Amino acid sequence: MAQQEMAVEALSEDDARKELERLALILDAANTAYHRDDAPDLTDAEYDRLKRRNAEIESRFPGLKRDDSPSERVGATPAEGFAKVRHEIRMMSLNNAFDDQDILSFDQSVRRYLGLSDDDPLAYTAEPKIDGLSLSLRYENGTLVQAATRGDGAVGENVTANARTITDLPIELKNAPDVIEVRGEVYMNHADFADLNARQGARGGKPFANPRNAAAGSLRQLDPNITKDRPLKFFAYSWGALSAPLAETQSGAIDRLTALGLQTNPLTQRCDTPEDMLFHYRKIEEQRATLGYDIDGVVYKVDDLAYQARLGFRSTTPRWAIAHKFPAELAWTWLEAIDIQVGRTGALSPVARLTPVTVGGVVVSNATLHNEDYIAGRDANGAPIRDGKDIRVGDWVQVYRAGDVIPKIADVDLSKRPASATPYAFPHECPECGSEAIREAGDAVRRCSGGLICPAQAVEKLKHFVSRAAFDIEGLGAKQVEQFYSDGWITEPADIFTLKDRYGSGVKQLRNREGWGEKSAQNLFDAIDEKRGIPLERLIFSLGIRHVGEVVAKLLARSYGTWDAFVTAVDAAHDPESDAWDSLIGIDGIGSVVATSLVSSFAQEAERASIDRLVSHLDVQDAERPQTDGSPVAGKTVVFTGSLERMTRAEAKARAERLGAKVSGSVSSRTDLLVAGPGAGSKETKARDLGIEIIDEDGWFDLIEGA
Ligand code: IVH
Repeated sequence: MAQQEMAVEALSEDDARKELERLALILDAANTAYHRDDAPDLTDAEYDRLKRRNAEIESRFPGLKRDDSPSERVGATPAEGFAKVRHEIRMMSLNNAFDDQDILSFDQSVRRYLGLSDDDPLAYTAEPKIDGLSLSLRYENGTLVQAATRGDGAVGENVTANARTITDLPIELKNAPDVIEVRGEVYMNHADFADLNARQGARGGKPFANPRNAAAGSLRQLDPNITKDRPLKFFAYSWGALSAPLAETQSGAIDRLTALGLQTNPLTQRCDTPEDMLFHYRKIEEQRATLGYDIDGVVYKVDDLAYQARLGFRSTTPRWAIAHKFPAELAWTWLEAIDIQVGRTGALSPVARLTPVTVGGVVVSNATLHNEDYIAGRDANGAPIRDGKDIRVGDWVQVYRAGDVIPKIADVDLSKRPASATPYAFPHECPECGSEAIREAGDAVRRCSGGLICPAQAVEKLKHFVSRAAFDIEGLGAKQVEQFYSDGWITEPADIFTLKDRYGSGVKQLRNREGWGEKSAQNLFDAIDEKRGIPLERLIFSLGIRHVGEVVAKLLARSYGTWDAFVTAVDAAHDPESDAWDSLIGIDGIGSVVATSLVSSFAQEAERASIDRLVSHLDVQDAERPQTDGSPVAGKTVVFTGSLERMTRAEAKARAERLGAKVSGSVSSRTDLLVAGPGAGSKETKARDLGIEIIDEDGWFDLIEGA
């Protein structure tokens, strides 16, 4: 078992001194991992717990407080970071597949979307999925002018100076299109990684956990001279903006990238059938250990670029590609404790505290336990999982990681269960505020009923509020929010916008606070002011309403356009018989679960008052309409019916939505246009009765031509 921490009350002075030293080391390393190396090695909760423990010991033994005490540090991101770059074309991520069946289903869904039969030829490429970090390189007239990390996909960091030091990357391309954005993966070889860690060790630095963290940490150095000494490599596998097409196929485009002087992966292969793809997957898997760099799966892409264009994208992933991941890595360790964390929506999440163990190159000390049923050994329907074995504190458990996801517990070895281990009693009270924790019928999760009086919920809501996809206020991250909350300076989002009035001058001032100065305080006030003007979709997302994530927030914003229209609609939708309710759940992508959650949040008095207070400080920017300049169907509600010949139903819908139309499944007085193919029935009759414009498929293509 790992060394158990002693209770603070039980520490002798000597123990305390050693413990403060240990905590200073761990927290310092964690800060570096988080801020400099982009590779957090502790969860936020664990970081906070250690910081609290440090503070408790310091307050018991004030004389032992170290000069480099972690409590003197604010974990803020360095202000002078990288400049931001907005990607002309978003950098996408990939859907994952875990077994052969997923690949066959993928092929089927591509065929269905394109309207191809099982006998129609459809080729794919298969290539290793490199475990590094993606980079977009912009060449203009053959010269590298910009390199940017993926960031959140829309906005990345400008790392041009660093990228120029990567010897794999040509500074000039020969015979390239005037503009070409090459995309690919930066990675580090195993041998180079071992060398780098040896050098780090010799210098007394902390070794990197794995080559990917080393590559990320090296690329994101503020000083390019450091990056220069780090042996980074690059494989090109994709592209963004282009002034002229590279080829007609994915495989042709990869050949072209190779001809331009870029490194492409030699294991890239064209496959004519799903069987070929799976065969190539096995071949790559066999070579995995001897490649000399980390890969975590195989990526398949539809070869024909015209098909890729038709397939297009879901919100963050292409429909024409999928990542077939290698099986997760496993390890056994002891489960030392089960802690309960309370999230933004009050969910009580059990977390396993493990004796640290290395799983696939990463040290794991926590794993999610999902919910009480999972611990008890049954699924949501009461069926046994793990053969019905429950999980107990003291158990010997099998841990696995699949890709980047949080580690999970796969199995329990009952032969090693200590005689004293007892079934875990899931709390029925919130451990943070003592309110009753209720499990509603049909919900796998038990939730704290304390709402805003629960400090854990309030803090999590605030953290969500300032997160990157929400208000993203520079200098106000999770750590600062926690500090401000625990001091009572900020208890709800609206308080952020009155911070300057309350603490900008006077007796108690931000600039006089530990960790803050005149400049940083002013910067924070400026950063807050800058976010008073906020896009509608960000505001909706920031409210942290259950089931309302980024995608849903965007759909809502685009449908309603303005904050007032949105609020009016949500209020009116409280009546489930109303048109407002129908039109809310009529939005494509929004169902009754989302709608109910939204409507009931807005109807809760305290929560609503808090939202209203927030909005009174803001200048909400109306939603950006989809880019539909010149689209003849923007804002129109279109219904497709009958059989379509030139495109599949899914394709028709996606195309219409890209052009700013709303696609509905049924005809009503709100319908603007019916596209009717052969065999159209009652919908066409109804449209005729209502006097709605009706066109056929060719008419549709004529209408949208050129748009
Ligand atoms: S294609 C629009 N190909 O995996 C297509 N991605 O999990 C974008 N990756 O963000 C990606 N090897 O960083 C592609 N051969 C490969 C890849 C690859 C690694 C990374 C990439 C992407 C992530 C998605």
